[in-house]
Amino acid sequence: MRADIRYSDVIKDSEAEIAQAAADAAPNLPSDQIDPNKFFITQHNDRYTDEDHAVWRLMYERRMETLADQASDVFLNGLEAIGLTPERVPVIADVNDRLKDLTGWQSHPVPGYLPAKAFFACLAKRRFPTTVTVRPRELLEYLPEPDIFHDVFGHVPLHADPVFAEFLQTYGKAALFCDDPYHIERLARLFWFTVEFGLIRERGEVKLYGSGLISSISESNHALESPHVDRRPFEMELVCDTPFEIDHYQPILYVLESFEQLRDAMNSYAERVLEESGVGVA
Ligand SMILES: [Fe+2]
Repeated sequence: MRADIRYSDVIKDSEAEIAQAAADAAPNLPSDQIDPNKFFITQHNDRYTDEDHAVWRLMYERRMETLADQASDVFLNGLEAIGLTPERVPVIADVNDRLKDLTGWQSHPVPGYLPAKAFFACLAKRRFPTTVTVRPRELLEYLPEPDIFHDVFGHVPLHADPVFAEFLQTYGKAALFCDDPYHIERLARLFWFTVEFGLIRERGEVKLYGSGLISSISESNHALESPHVDRRPFEMELVCDTPFEIDHYQPILYVLESFEQLRDAMNSYAERVLEESGVGVA
């Protein structure tokens, strides 16, 4: 979720500073008064350099060589539905035009790292905070912080799917209105093992859908082929009980049978979390 302006000058400083200050202050507000619109900035498409477009194309073409076989149909269909191409860094407004009638999700450029509550407030309103910078060529394969390739290529295609779209919004509502550290930690694990590193079984084969896998060749190959990965059937309680580590290949991954399974499990969990928080399901 963090963008760093050292990579690019596509972020306008004064606007970004104001938006970042609003995001940083959001956790101090009551959850229902957090306004995600204050965190968003303009995507200045004219500021992308030829090198930015070249890196986008290189990443896109390299990933598609294997994703056609490795990725979930839902990702591949979503990629087509939102109109991404290798030609150039995507214009987020164009992506949003495509998404509007599909699920109502919209992506919005943000200046950098959003505190968790600010991030959840966006998800709860079907708004996806998006990094707009492009990674430097020397960090093609591993980038410690998201860039537009991770966020838009990796995450946004799934937002075109109505079932995943519902899951992600419900997740956002539960996380936004939950104040219990026990559940907050469990929800962070759920995000990690689904949105970031999720696998799904389709026609008997395990496929990728998590953005951390979609946007990384080496993580993908490891996730699908390594004998050292424990690929477990998705079970909500087990997922939420599994700690994760961020600085090496994932030794444990969870495999969905369908996105309906994820949506339904999330609906039940959200009901429980929100009832315990005294909010009720919105
Ligand atoms: Fe991500």
